[in-house]
Amino acid sequence: MQDQIDQYTAEINAFAPANADELETFRIKFLGTKGLIKDLFEQFKNVGPEEKRTFGKVLNQFKQLAEAKYNELKETHNSEPTTQNSDIDLTLPGDGFQVGSRHPLSLVRNEIIDIFKRLGFVVAEGPEIEDDWHNFSALNFPEEHPARDMQDTFFIKKNAGKDDIALRTHTSSVQVRMMENGKPPFRAIMPGRVYRNEAISARAHCFFHQVEGLYIDENVSFADLKQTLYHFVQELYGEGTQVRFRPSYFPFTEPSAEMDISCTICKGAGCNMCKYSGWVEILGCGMVDPNVLENCGIDSKKYTGFAFGMGMERIANLKYVIRDLRLFSENDERFLKQFQTEII
Ligand code: PHE
Repeated sequence: MQDQIDQYTAEINAFAPANADELETFRIKFLGTKGLIKDLFEQFKNVGPEEKRTFGKVLNQFKQLAEAKYNELKETHNSEPTTQNSDIDLTLPGDGFQVGSRHPLSLVRNEIIDIFKRLGFVVAEGPEIEDDWHNFSALNFPEEHPARDMQDTFFIKKNAGKDDIALRTHTSSVQVRMMENGKPPFRAIMPGRVYRNEAISARAHCFFHQVEGLYIDENVSFADLKQTLYHFVQELYGEGTQVRFRPSYFPFTEPSAEMDISCTICKGAGCNMCKYSGWVEILGCGMVDPNVLENCGIDSKKYTGFAFGMGMERIANLKYVIRDLRLFSENDERFLKQFQTEII
């Protein structure tokens, strides 16, 4: 028995496994439930009392040696590297990870909000599913009036006028809600998604985004409207951007105008974007029609105001030259990655 133990001891001391499998084989051979040590303890039961004393000690020492060796080797062959045994340099800086980027429409919306915030405008929001009153009637669209056809409406429930329910065609509906629920003065912008029944192509989509603005107080004039929008454009597209106003028609403003700016791409020299005219239209605007004020419970003798509305895709286009409207909603990473990366 002593010879056997000596032989095994030498084997254990020399043991140097190349991998975790060899170590497992070692464990089974020596320490397993049918292993050699178990076997030696079985044999030990049969030795005489004299030998029991000496062998008991030897056997226990041998068992401890095998266990210690196994535990020590287990550390080094653990699949998870530890700081002592691996090549990992903990002083190296960590790997960078991919962060997202802002959608171009979000960039533009945030910029517009920032500019108007500095002028004292707050942000207002409203529902995308609207009733006839807020989307049309309160805004001075007479029932069955052809002006309603200007905006190809997605109706959810059509009941010849009064209780029609539709997807809002513009964010002017938020202006109505704001005026109905508050007291002048109002100074707010309303960013949001709007819907129109158009075939989807590079130049039209069945939904897009608007930012509208409303300013109502005593003695607000067309000069205030012009100066506010002039300032806005200088901030957004840079000093020196020119503006011009053309008379137009909207049921809810009187007088009404459309505002053009000198083309941001060719600076007025003429290009594809401005169809070689040097000018691009960016928004509709006007003095809020007194009928609209009265519809919303505001005294039109005391208060006046202006409103404006612009398409955010158009504004983004004039910054980033995005030729196809569909890119805004397709979530193609190759497109989205080209915009400002978010710093976390
Ligand atoms: N609501 C108009 C549209 O969607 C834009 C507009 C808003 C025009 C406010 C004038 C004043 O076309």
